[in-house]
Amino acid sequence: MRSRAGEGGTRVVYRGAEADLLRGRWCGLDAVFKFRRPFIYRLKVLDDAIRRQRTAREAEMIHDAKRSGAHTPFLYFVDMGKALIVMQWVNGRRLKETVSSLSSEGLEHVFAELGGEVARLHASGIMHGDLTTSNILLDYDNKGSSNNNELTLIDFGLALRTTRLEDRAVDLRLVKETLTGAHSEVASKAYAALLEGYRGEVGPGEVRAVTRQVAEIERRGRYARVE
Ligand SMILES: Nc1ncnc2c1ncn2[C@@H]1O[C@H](COP(=O)(O)OP(=O)(O)OP(=O)(O)O)[C@@H](O)[C@H]1O
Ligand SMILES: [Mg+2]
Repeated sequence: MRSRAGEGGTRVVYRGAEADLLRGRWCGLDAVFKFRRPFIYRLKVLDDAIRRQRTAREAEMIHDAKRSGAHTPFLYFVDMGKALIVMQWVNGRRLKETVSSLSSEGLEHVFAELGGEVARLHASGIMHGDLTTSNILLDYDNKGSSNNNELTLIDFGLALRTTRLEDRAVDLRLVKETLTGAHSEVASKAYAALLEGYRGEVGPGEVRAVTRQVAEIERRGRYARVE
């Protein structure tokens, strides 16, 4: 794909179920082009509407999340008709692939930071909706140092504006589930650090309320499985 304001070529860095991500240049800046592909089995008019709506939603939510003080990529350009978002290329690797190489101190630092990021979103009425370690980028210096970590939250395609406690708990529950499933050796330490970071932003009362709700979701899940 070549873009109007892009210089040089672009190269595919990721092909997801719905979107292709290409890396290229936008007005002299290192950029990512996230393009939601047409889905040929869907009625075209419906497909166009869905892709347009998800593109608009994601762009809006990235913008709102940044305003909340969370780290997200800068938005450069949005074309709803083409289902295209152009945003800042973030230097870093997915947390999913970096967790195992973090030192114990680094792990605590990164997850406390993540807790703070999520708390800032929640405090301003945003639910991420897909908080897995694949949707968090970590720029780190490769030495496992706790000082140079920087997290960026990406993939806001499922984000919502909400003030419901249940929605905040669903976000935390998904991180917890991802940790237990994909990073079991460090899951409890990482989750505890995350809650500590969350507490630092919103205070102990809110952490108590949201963790109680996470426990309630887990209880419902167990009950549903038994039935
Ligand atoms: N701004 C960015 N800078 C660098 N890499 C990025 C950026 N945005 C996305 N990526 C890379 O592309 C991958 C896929 O991006 P993303 O998670 O947004 O798409 P997706 O999972 O296919 O989304 P969806 O499920 O909404 O279609 C990420 O895991 C990350 O490796
Ligand atoms: Mg993703």
